[in-house]
Amino acid sequence: MPFRVGVLISGQGSNLQALIDHFARKEGVPGPEIVCVASSRADALGLERARNAGIETAVFDKTDHSDRDARDAALGNWLDDHNLDLVVLAGFMEILSGPFIRRFEGRLVNVHPSLLPAFPGVNAIEQALAYGVKVMGVTVHFVDEGVDTGPVVLQEAFELPYARDMEEIEHRVHEIEHRLLPRAVELIAAGAVSRDESNPRVVRITQAT
Ligand code: GAR
Repeated sequence: MPFRVGVLISGQGSNLQALIDHFARKEGVPGPEIVCVASSRADALGLERARNAGIETAVFDKTDHSDRDARDAALGNWLDDHNLDLVVLAGFMEILSGPFIRRFEGRLVNVHPSLLPAFPGVNAIEQALAYGVKVMGVTVHFVDEGVDTGPVVLQEAFELPYARDMEEIEHRVHEIEHRLLPRAVELIAAGAVSRDESNPRVVRITQAT
C-alpha cells in the first residue's frame, strides 16, 4: 500500500514540484505517492505542475463558498475522499479553520520559510531581513490551531552575515525547502516520526530511511 499524500498550494508550487520529482513512482518501489493537489486559487501555477504530472487537482477558493468554514469543510471532504495518510501545506497561504485542523490532526504538515518560532505568518523572509538576523532557515512542522506554532519535525539553518538581496535569500530558502519537505514526508511515511510522551511538542525521529 503506498503512503497517500495530498498537497495544498496557493501559488508557484515549487515545493509541490520538489515532492513530485522526489517521489516519482518507480516500478515496484513502495513509498509516498502524491495523489491529489488542491489550491486556494484557480490561477496557481502549481496546478499546472500537478496536471503535468497526471495528478488530480481541484480549486477551493473561499469566494466560491459562503465562508471559510464552508470552504474548509468542502476541502476536507474532498481530501477525505482520497483516503490520505498525510496532507502537506506547500505554500498554502491561508489560515485553515479549527475544525479542519482537528479533522487532520497529526496528518497535517506545513513548510515555513523561517526558523520557527521566529517570524511566523506571512512574509517571513521580509520579516527576518527587516529584523537583521544573521541566521535564517526553514521549518517543517505539524500544524496545530495556532499560526505556525505546531511541533517541529525538521529545521535547517543557514548564515547570512549581511543579507539584502531578497531574490538571493529566497533562492537559498527554496533550495533547503526542496530537500527538507520531501525528507520530512519520507520520514513520516516510514513511521520514523513520533511525539515524545512526556512533552508532545517534541518530535522524535526514531530511524533514518
Ligand atoms: C515557500 O517558501 C513556503 O515556505 C512559503 O511559501 C512559499 C511557497 O513557494 N510558505 C509560507 O510562507 C507559509 N506561511 P512554492 O509555491 O514555490 O512552493
